[in-house]
Amino acid sequence: MKMPVKVKFATKTGFCFGVKRAVEMAEAALKRKGPICSLGSLIHNEQVVTALAAKGLRIAKNVSDVKGGTCVISSHGISPVIAEVISAKGVKIIDTTCPFVLRAQKIAKCKSLAGYRVIIVGDEKHPEIKALVGFVSTLAIVVKDGKEARALKLDNKAKYIVIAQTTQDRANFAGAVKEISAKRTKDLKIFNTICRDAGERQGAAMRLARTVDAIFVVGGRSSANTRRLYEVSKRKAKNAHLIETEDEVRKSWLKGVSFVGITSGASTPEWVVNKVVRKILEKGAVH
Ligand code: F3S
Repeated sequence: MKMPVKVKFATKTGFCFGVKRAVEMAEAALKRKGPICSLGSLIHNEQVVTALAAKGLRIAKNVSDVKGGTCVISSHGISPVIAEVISAKGVKIIDTTCPFVLRAQKIAKCKSLAGYRVIIVGDEKHPEIKALVGFVSTLAIVVKDGKEARALKLDNKAKYIVIAQTTQDRANFAGAVKEISAKRTKDLKIFNTICRDAGERQGAAMRLARTVDAIFVVGGRSSANTRRLYEVSKRKAKNAHLIETEDEVRKSWLKGVSFVGITSGASTPEWVVNKVVRKILEKGAVH
């Protein structure tokens, strides 16, 4: 007898507040006249980027590719210098920087102006961090984890702050903070700038992974928060899979599986999640 697979959802799936806001702002701008581009992909989700391109949102690969009209800045933010260069071309900027990212930028700016050196726990190649270092008046230090933090040579006469990429894994941030706190400095302040949505999604994915036979993390492979969700899910469940679309669902992953957990990255729309669920229900059955 075949029993249908049962699907359990994490408490949070679909767009986070910041990504939803960015997509809505871009869609509103697309209704106006004139050329419009985003600086890089607006969000880390291929399906949404393709849908926006069909409505007329061109992707400018870099600043020199921003040629006129309107430029939408992603929720990851933009360095003030780059924003000035774009404005100087007479281009209208629509800035969708997420308020959680703005908070980290403000802390970095204020504290560096007050004489603190800024240590960021995050991925230096990520657009959010590339923008964030632009708010620091001296050179920012970026470390990706506790190991890199341990290797840091800090000046014991200098003051430091530590902040996080908004989508950081909480345990990774805590590990880096522990290493930095063990060093001698004149002053050290810690600001946990991990956004509430990212933290809650990670916690929900871990709890879900413990209670199901297989967990699917739906989202773009280029999305940092999706990859983190996959990492935390893998820690709790052997049968964890990161997939971008329903076409990647394999029947073999569902063999002997009764309960499937579903979670998604913050830049994955509900309609992509729903297509994945339909495919799982189609392919999955306990024999
Ligand atoms: Fe903002 Fe957090 Fe989403 S920083 S863009 S609400 S993952």
